[in-house]
Amino acid sequence: MKKDLQTREDVKLLVASFYDKVRADTVLGPFFKEAIKDWDAHIERLTTFWEASLFLKTKYTGNPLETHIKVDADHQHSITQVQFGLWLNLWFQTIDELFEGDYAQNAKFKARKMGSFLYLKIFEAREIK
Ligand code: HEM
Repeated sequence: MKKDLQTREDVKLLVASFYDKVRADTVLGPFFKEAIKDWDAHIERLTTFWEASLFLKTKYTGNPLETHIKVDADHQHSITQVQFGLWLNLWFQTIDELFEGDYAQNAKFKARKMGSFLYLKIFEAREIK
């Protein structure tokens, strides 16, 4: 029986395992290879993001919307539902490999919700220009 996500260490394991898969993915890998110079810092940052999102108890200061609009622009507006679908599949897969329970379920739900929002906003940002 797997445990649920409970601590920052749990979240860090999830985030690090997920980005191992992302980096190895032929479609998603190049987006991250270009953007991320310091992987340890990225993993810490994303651990803080997910810890804040799941447990509402850390201070994440970032602007994911701006970040993704920039990533899309840096890649000639080539982000589509394909990248979002692959991202979510890898996230779900990693969660299922390592954890189960209400927080694990919520981590899936929140990613899907945020994915829909980011996707929509990326398209909006393209039309304005
Ligand atoms: C589906 C749901 C997704 C969620 C929940 C998500 C979440 C995040 C978050 C929270 C950050 C950190 C933002 C910051 O603090 O600056 C981030 C960074 C990033 N995301 Fe996503 N993301 C998603 C999908 C994607 C997709 C589909 C791609 C690529 C096609 C992508 C590419 C990136 C890259 C390259 C960065 C790092 C940018 C940088 O640090 O310069 N993300 N993401």
